[in-house]
Amino acid sequence: MPCALPFSAPDLLAPMEGVTEPCFRDLVLARNPPQRLGGAFTEFARVVGIPLPRRTLREHLGPRRWPAPVGLQLMGSDPGPMAETARRAAEVGAPLVDLNFGCPARGALRTCAGSALLREPRRVEELVRACAQAVTDRPVTAKIRAGYEDDSLLEELARAVEAGGASMLTVHCRTRAEGYQEAVDWSRLARAASSVAIPVCGNGGVRVHADLERLRRETGCRYTMVGRAALGDPWIFAGASVRACDAARFLLDYAQALERAGFSTLGAAGRVKQLLQFWTAGVLLGENRLEWLRERDPARLVERLRTLAGDERDSMLNPQLEVREVSALARSLRARMPLH
Ligand SMILES: Cc1cc2nc3c(=O)[nH]c(=O)nc-3n(C[C@H](O)[C@H](O)[C@H](O)COP(=O)(O)O)c2cc1C
Repeated sequence: MPCALPFSAPDLLAPMEGVTEPCFRDLVLARNPPQRLGGAFTEFARVVGIPLPRRTLREHLGPRRWPAPVGLQLMGSDPGPMAETARRAAEVGAPLVDLNFGCPARGALRTCAGSALLREPRRVEELVRACAQAVTDRPVTAKIRAGYEDDSLLEELARAVEAGGASMLTVHCRTRAEGYQEAVDWSRLARAASSVAIPVCGNGGVRVHADLERLRRETGCRYTMVGRAALGDPWIFAGASVRACDAARFLLDYAQALERAGFSTLGAAGRVKQLLQFWTAGVLLGENRLEWLRERDPARLVERLRTLAGDERDSMLNPQLEVREVSALARSLRARMPLH
């Protein structure tokens, strides 16, 4: 019997390797209320040959807990070690365990994990079953792509996940062969949603806040998952439009959190630059996008952010506000001036 899902709202932050570690995730969770951001996932933890130690799983989960749950994602191809790792994940406090059947990276394919398993629905079912039997008091969920070369096995894969005992199926609507191409076909999400009774979470191609609800309406999915658009705009779940100083503050907080977590200044700046490639929030980069991305000196990058974060009246951001403020100031000065 599948377990009840703990999400606080239907919109979820996708697992993203190298990004959704605790520092970034916590900043996103802190900026979106749980009524808007219903949950998040760790980046995948790879299980090769032997179960992962509890310490590694705790590191993925991070030290903080939020009203919106963070699922721990595992990737592997061997049911024994995967099931034992899932059991340990529950033991160290993961509110749910998610299984990755979508990673297209060569490393995953070499070990026949991630998207390699999309060619073998029976093995997907076997892995889900092994983990669901090892973790009976909380949900085990699975995330697939629409297929390997094409989407011909989509329904079979969805039913395999359900038959294995998963509580939710997430479908990234691109196939492995389609990589991260811009065009998406949400009719695949509708196909998956109508072929199983468990809740389906639709993923792929969400760009703006309005797409979150639109995806559910158009596909019959009960949940929406956002990947790269949340890297460009971490406020996408709340639908808030922020100022450049707020955007700069997020990136500064990110750099500082990474350094506190043991990254060097250079390493932290590298992660910030990685995020800047996606960044849209607060019109922070504006026409100087290339200039920002070419910045090599981490100290200068941080200094630029600090300047912008402190400049709450940044005109590039909210020119109307500035005009309003200036005219209010002018009015109050006029009121205090003696009439001639
Ligand atoms: C940098 C990066 C890392 C990713 N790492 C993972 C991962 O660890 N596990 C996973 O299931 N999917 C991973 N994905 C895929 C995303 O979760 C998501 O399915 C994909 O980006 C499509 O959603 P989008 O169009 O909203 O970006 C990753 C994607 C990106 C861009």
